[in-house]
Amino acid sequence: MEQVAVVTGANRGIGLEISKRLADLGFTVIFTARDEEKGRKAMNSLLKSGRKLVFFKLDVTDKTDGIRLSQFLEKEYGRVDVLFNNAAILPDENESAVSIDLSLVSKTFETNTVGAFRVAQSVISLMKKNNYGRIINISSGLGALSSMGGGYPAYRISKASLNAITKMLADELSHFNILVNSVDPGWVKTDMGGPNASKTAAQAVDNILWLAQLPDNGPSGKFFRNKEEALW
Ligand SMILES: NC(=O)c1ccc[n+]([C@@H]2O[C@H](COP(=O)([O-])OP(=O)(O)OC[C@H]3O[C@@H](n4cnc5c(N)ncnc54)[C@H](OP(=O)(O)O)[C@@H]3O)[C@@H](O)[C@H]2O)c1
Repeated sequence: MEQVAVVTGANRGIGLEISKRLADLGFTVIFTARDEEKGRKAMNSLLKSGRKLVFFKLDVTDKTDGIRLSQFLEKEYGRVDVLFNNAAILPDENESAVSIDLSLVSKTFETNTVGAFRVAQSVISLMKKNNYGRIINISSGLGALSSMGGGYPAYRISKASLNAITKMLADELSHFNILVNSVDPGWVKTDMGGPNASKTAAQAVDNILWLAQLPDNGPSGKFFRNKEEALW
């Protein structure tokens, strides 16, 4: 039976690379994006013999989309093995915690944190049913409390909270063979990371993809960077 993996924000950057690599590993990839036209175009660029990718329109901030995803997976596959919570925004590059408009904090939290929470909740019942799941929350070093500094206030809060979700879900799902981890991809050349970043998306994904194929006794409730455990 082919394994099914869901990727959010798959139409560009790290999500696109994750989707390509999962397809090459033999996963059926549920390639999700909030903009159907952009998403299908990006997915079609990956299609080649042997790769199985299926488009699904998903805005992580949309409650109905979460419910639709859950129903779609149940009906079409009866399973979901892997979730990459990748979709995110970074709208506060030039902001300070002292003065940021708090509506921007809410907006960022709604996408990066509540959005990831929503998609996780959409897949968990099916994962539980099959007693198998791997959830990977793409976090950031900017969300680590151990090195928390100023700047990027909305983004930092959203990723620190995403890490909290990782720990909570890992604990609550520990008896269902569902492993939940956070990963920091590093500074990556994408629209978000910019052209001066130190890693390509392919190099970043080299350090991320293994979390999709953890053995049953693998780590859960951890934060990783460069395949090593990192400080929260
Ligand atoms: N690049 C870095 O240096 C870096 C560093 C640390 C962590 N990260 C994390 O890595 C992940 C991927 O980042 P990236 O660099 O690939 O960013 P990116 O190039 O900006 O791509 C972000 C993706 O998220 C999607 N997205 C945003 N809001 C969404 C929503 N409401 N619903 C569904 N999709 C949504 C975007 O879709 P649209 O095209 O429709 O906007 C896009 O596909 C993020 O979680 C990011 O925080 C990145």
